[in-house]
Amino acid sequence: MPLKLTILVGTMTGTAQLVAQELQLTWEDDDTQVEVLPMDGLDAGVFAREGVFLVCTSTYGQGDVPDNAKHLYGALCRDRPDLAHVRYGLFGLGDRTYAETFNFGGKRFDDVLTELGAKRIGERVRHDASSGVMPEDKALEWGPEWLALARAKAEQTA
Ligand SMILES: Cc1cc2nc3c(=O)[nH]c(=O)nc-3n(C[C@H](O)[C@H](O)[C@H](O)COP(=O)(O)O)c2cc1C
Repeated sequence: MPLKLTILVGTMTGTAQLVAQELQLTWEDDDTQVEVLPMDGLDAGVFAREGVFLVCTSTYGQGDVPDNAKHLYGALCRDRPDLAHVRYGLFGLGDRTYAETFNFGGKRFDDVLTELGAKRIGERVRHDASSGVMPEDKALEWGPEWLALARAKAEQTA
């Protein structure tokens, strides 16, 4: 059975979408089906999908989730669905120049998903736009190990 992987994208200016597309390009093969879903208009029902999830989101405002992620994030906080069956990874994009709220968009999703019973696969990635490392490069370096972990978790819960 191929691993099904849904990448949920929260973005303002498209960088997180680019990261998701790069990961999809490198991950997709006979054993791995990847779908990239911008968060626009999604609600918590998206977590009924089969397989594992990767939340790929930037941070805006004063440590907020991007506009296209607000609906989904708000629904999770308000409706409090039981997500005990969910396994997810978290790739956050931010900028350390915003020292007080560095990568809080990803942190907000990570916190609420954990509160709702979902289990994170691997560590939360915090890309720093001021580091000089391109987020796609960081993702491609991080990706293989995370995919192996995700596959192992998916097999355990199958
Ligand atoms: C107006 C504005 C506010 C931002 N606020 C934060 C912030 O509070 N914390 C943070 O870590 N990064 C912040 N960032 C940096 C973005 O999250 C970062 O540049 C990211 O790579 C953008 O990804 P996107 O194009 O997918 O939205 C901000 C950027 C802008 C332009």
